[in-house]
Amino acid sequence: MGRLVESLKSAGMEAECLFMPPGEEGKNFNTIETLLEKALDLNIDRRCVIIALGGGVVGDTAGFLAGIYMRGIDYIQVPTTLLAMVDSSIGGKVAVNVSRGKNMAGVFHQPLAVFADISLLDSLPGEEFSAALGEVIKYGAGFDREFFEWQEQHLRSILGREPRCLLYLVEKSVGLKAHVVEKDEKDRGERMLLNLGHTLAHAVEKAGNYRTFSHGQAVGIGLVYAFVTARRLGRVSGEEVSRVKRLVAGAGLPVKPQGIGFRDFMQIALNDKKWERGNSIFILPEGIGKCSTVSNISEGVLRLAFEEMMEGRTF
Ligand SMILES: NC(=O)c1ccc[n+]([C@@H]2O[C@H](COP(=O)([O-])OP(=O)(O)OC[C@H]3O[C@@H](n4cnc5c(N)ncnc54)[C@H](O)[C@@H]3O)[C@@H](O)[C@H]2O)c1
Repeated sequence: MGRLVESLKSAGMEAECLFMPPGEEGKNFNTIETLLEKALDLNIDRRCVIIALGGGVVGDTAGFLAGIYMRGIDYIQVPTTLLAMVDSSIGGKVAVNVSRGKNMAGVFHQPLAVFADISLLDSLPGEEFSAALGEVIKYGAGFDREFFEWQEQHLRSILGREPRCLLYLVEKSVGLKAHVVEKDEKDRGERMLLNLGHTLAHAVEKAGNYRTFSHGQAVGIGLVYAFVTARRLGRVSGEEVSRVKRLVAGAGLPVKPQGIGFRDFMQIALNDKKWERGNSIFILPEGIGKCSTVSNISEGVLRLAFEEMMEGRTF
């Protein structure tokens, strides 16, 4: 933070730091109000720019503040976690949590720019790094077969955080997400595909009260479930299921949930906002590298796939 402020000042700009409480608990309206009051005290106006320096929590909060402050001012994302670099800083969805749920109050507000400096990842704890790989694997498994194969071949270098590897991984992930978002910025259709693996992931996170599994771990499990379900419907081969499982496990992520049975999953998933008007829309792969929506999968198929995932069957 100090380095950023110094470099802005040395470039002749005025800069002030505002801080927020750490973690998901700080991503709320109280923080927004506090930051908003401070910004008013500092006479921040529409010609100013907010720079969100931090992980996804800071990016979402600062982006939401920028979206509503004086009816919207510019902001720049400077993501410092891998998850924020490959996912949350891209696409302009910014939100805070309310007591009824995560990210339930937000706006679409695109950042002026996103600057990702991968050297910031040197200090990122291992579990934060691995968790973000859940989303990276999703980009390959759902949108780009070559990128998936590249991850299989370079897993050791990725986990070793080799700079050239990370640069490619971040660039590729950003490009894939941006490509989908460009076609459907306001999330009315195609952007939904970015939720590949997220139906079960949300249920797994919720069932564990957001403590048992991190979001990234839950996405890894959700991806495996999506592939197992797709195999039952003849959309992917057993070998493809095994490859996805191997990559998820190799990235240090779990491949099956704990503490959630099929009934809990169905109950939580039915209340999920991604299940529109009771119509069970699922996003499922069509082989590695492509995915699409499928409606009304029978409960029997979902159950058998769930059991297969829990048994940890290999193909
Ligand atoms: N807007 C979107 O499209 C979108 C997409 C995905 C996730 N999200 C949101 O992103 C948030 C999760 O983001 P996150 O995973 O970055 O979590 P986070 O922002 O809480 O950061 C994780 C931890 O890493 C620490 N940290 C940050 N940068 C670091 C660094 N360089 N070195 C060491 N430690 C560092 C943070 O202090 C924190 O303790 C959630 O609130 C989620 O809802 C938003």
